[in-house]
Amino acid sequence: LGADGAARPLAGRRVLVTSGPTHEPIDPVRYLANRSSGRQGHAIAEAAARAGAIVTLVSGPVTIPDPPRVTVVRVETAREMLAAVEAALPADIAVFAAAVADWRPEHEAGTKKIKKDGSGPALLPLAENPDILATIARRPSGRPPLVVGFAAETDAVLDHARAKIARKGCDLIVANDVSAEGGVMGGVANAVHLIRPDGAVESWPRLGKDEVARRLVQHLAGMLGG
Ligand code: CTP
Ligand code: CA
Repeated sequence: LGADGAARPLAGRRVLVTSGPTHEPIDPVRYLANRSSGRQGHAIAEAAARAGAIVTLVSGPVTIPDPPRVTVVRVETAREMLAAVEAALPADIAVFAAAVADWRPEHEAGTKKIKKDGSGPALLPLAENPDILATIARRPSGRPPLVVGFAAETDAVLDHARAKIARKGCDLIVANDVSAEGGVMGGVANAVHLIRPDGAVESWPRLGKDEVARRLVQHLAGMLGG
């Protein structure tokens, strides 16, 4: 127990969390991004610290405050996020809650704003970003013992999440419905399903993101043992 009498099931453990969106620059004034607020990832980092862990949070651009007692590394792009994650290892648990941009503009942004030239919209060729979760989960050495992914889906949530856990090589997927009715992206509540590599599912009721984080940290401590 800690000074406040709370249980510390992750005392001395190292936990790495990614959170927020990534921004992929188009030119000096524009970028590609998504609606992630960082609330769920930040809440997980905070809950892990409360559970006694030594926590590094690698965050894309967000407007919410840094969680207390957490080392925060700020990045902008997916490629920066991957480099920061690799630099933060080793870890006992890695939780990939960031909404990483799947694509980036193929050409480096440069220093000049792209101008309208009267010939219609510019074509924006895209390149695929590295998959940070899969890169870490499939590491030949130094793989964290517990690698956790998220799955943001708008339909067939469980089917897509089961396919995703197999593709990524992680130990658990936390799947949520980010369809408009779900209101998850940017919102404060989340109804999640935990999916295991064998396809087994545990569904939780709709909870605040802080409560999802608290329960997830307890669940991960149980999986890690101790
Ligand atoms: N992820 C990542 N790096 C990426 C893309 C995704 O680390 N370049 C991680 C996310 O942090 C999340 C998991 O992979 O933990 C699933 O992200 P999601 O966007 O749901 O899956 P994708 O594999 O990108 O597939 P899609 O967006 O097509 O559904
Ligand atoms: Ca994606």
